[in-house]
Amino acid sequence: MNNDIEEVLFDQDQIHQAAARIGQQITRDFDGHRPLFLSVLKGAYLWTADVLRQVDLYADLEFIKISSYHGGVESSDEIELVTDIRREVADRDVIILEDIVDTGQSLLFLKDLLAQRGARSIQVACLLDKKGGRKVDVTADYVGFDVRNEFVVGYGLDYAESYRNLPYVGVLKPSVYAK
Ligand code: IMP
Ligand code: MG
Repeated sequence: MNNDIEEVLFDQDQIHQAAARIGQQITRDFDGHRPLFLSVLKGAYLWTADVLRQVDLYADLEFIKISSYHGGVESSDEIELVTDIRREVADRDVIILEDIVDTGQSLLFLKDLLAQRGARSIQVACLLDKKGGRKVDVTADYVGFDVRNEFVVGYGLDYAESYRNLPYVGVLKPSVYAK
């Protein structure tokens, strides 16, 4: 699996440091509140675990599953809600945990959904922000790292369901998906 990686961008220690920085910032920003963390499956599973362990607040955690990719390396414009949450979000301060924001379409879909359901506030904490990929106007409030416009995998992020278990974020060799 490691041989398919062209370059390691962020290792486990760097990611843990980013999670600590963001978790501590959220702890300060939400002092006296009980946020609802909404983790976006499957990509955000490790990032969620890292950030939440750095948050010193009473909080709720829910998982939602959406799909935008259909196995390739380009986002599709169609977002599908695969598994919804059953918890009420009306009047809640929601913090979305995402692996990466690329075109922004997934995030916009989620923000619209939560707004429709009456969330009081909606913030976003993402591991990676690929700002150069944006097609819609949406921004993340807490960003682990900015990345260039290239396809990355690992630490939750996949290519055709592989590489989610790599303990770092790296650039996939284009030869892997050219096959
Ligand atoms: P967006 O809707 O284009 O912003 O894409 C969001 C989703 O696409 C992310 O949550 C990822 O699951 C996936 N994605 C976007 N860029 C990459 C990448 O470079 N590697 C792996 N998955 C990606
Ligand atoms: Mg995702």
